[in-house]
Amino acid sequence: MHTNVKWEESNDRASIVDLVMTERRAKRGFLKTPVPLETVNEILNAARYAPSSSNTQPWKCFVLTGGARGRITERAVELFRAGPEKLSPEYPFFPQPLHDPFISRFNVFRGQLGDAVGVPRSDKYGRMKDVERQFRFFEAPVGMIFTMDRKLEWASFICYGCFLQNIMLAAKARGLDTCAQQIWSLQHPMLREELGFSENDMVVAGLSLGWADNSLAENNMTNHKLAIDEFVTFLGD
Ligand SMILES: Cc1cc2nc3c(=O)[nH]c(=O)nc-3n(C[C@H](O)[C@H](O)[C@H](O)COP(=O)(O)O)c2cc1C
Repeated sequence: MHTNVKWEESNDRASIVDLVMTERRAKRGFLKTPVPLETVNEILNAARYAPSSSNTQPWKCFVLTGGARGRITERAVELFRAGPEKLSPEYPFFPQPLHDPFISRFNVFRGQLGDAVGVPRSDKYGRMKDVERQFRFFEAPVGMIFTMDRKLEWASFICYGCFLQNIMLAAKARGLDTCAQQIWSLQHPMLREELGFSENDMVVAGLSLGWADNSLAENNMTNHKLAIDEFVTFLGD
């Protein structure tokens, strides 16, 4: 076995897995308490069993702690301050304009987050500060950057999603929290230079990992999740 958990010995497997899935939430503020590298290793060691199309495993990952994390977050914030309009992602995040029902869900989420952090949409300065927090990995002691060969196609993004979710669930199962952050794709030129990967690889996302500061309002939001009858069609005989 590759983990310490013996599948045959766990007595309520479904509820354990369901609990980890339903308890996981994106957290946007972390305690400074360090995360042992052995724990990060354990998480990645479990996550690498993610399924992928024909076992192609498109993921590549940089784990940033200590000085490396500090240098990269400082540069990211500097670049953002120097010209947010100069930063652009390596792949489109959403169609422009985003249409319903997605734009409504997007706006509800943005409104909730704005209320939680006390930054209304009209507060441009507050919103800038909020983005800076994103580029500080929300103070999490571990930041991760994920890259993928840019010649790959859409199917590999599906595989990547499985891998990222594995990391988030393995972290949650250990009492840790995460926030997946596609916003890090905006920092691809600096990340390429600092981390030394080539133009052949694109930045898919980043991820904050640590112990959530649950005293923060933004870490206590209740996100609306669709009920299954809103997105499932059951077909029988
Ligand atoms: C692929 C992906 C990219 C994301 N990028 C960001 C991001 O850049 N910044 C951020 O604050 N949250 C980001 N999130 C977190 C989502 O906003 C969050 O998952 C969503 O609001 C649902 O909330 P929940 O994860 O707590 O259920 C991302 C999530 C995913 C899956």
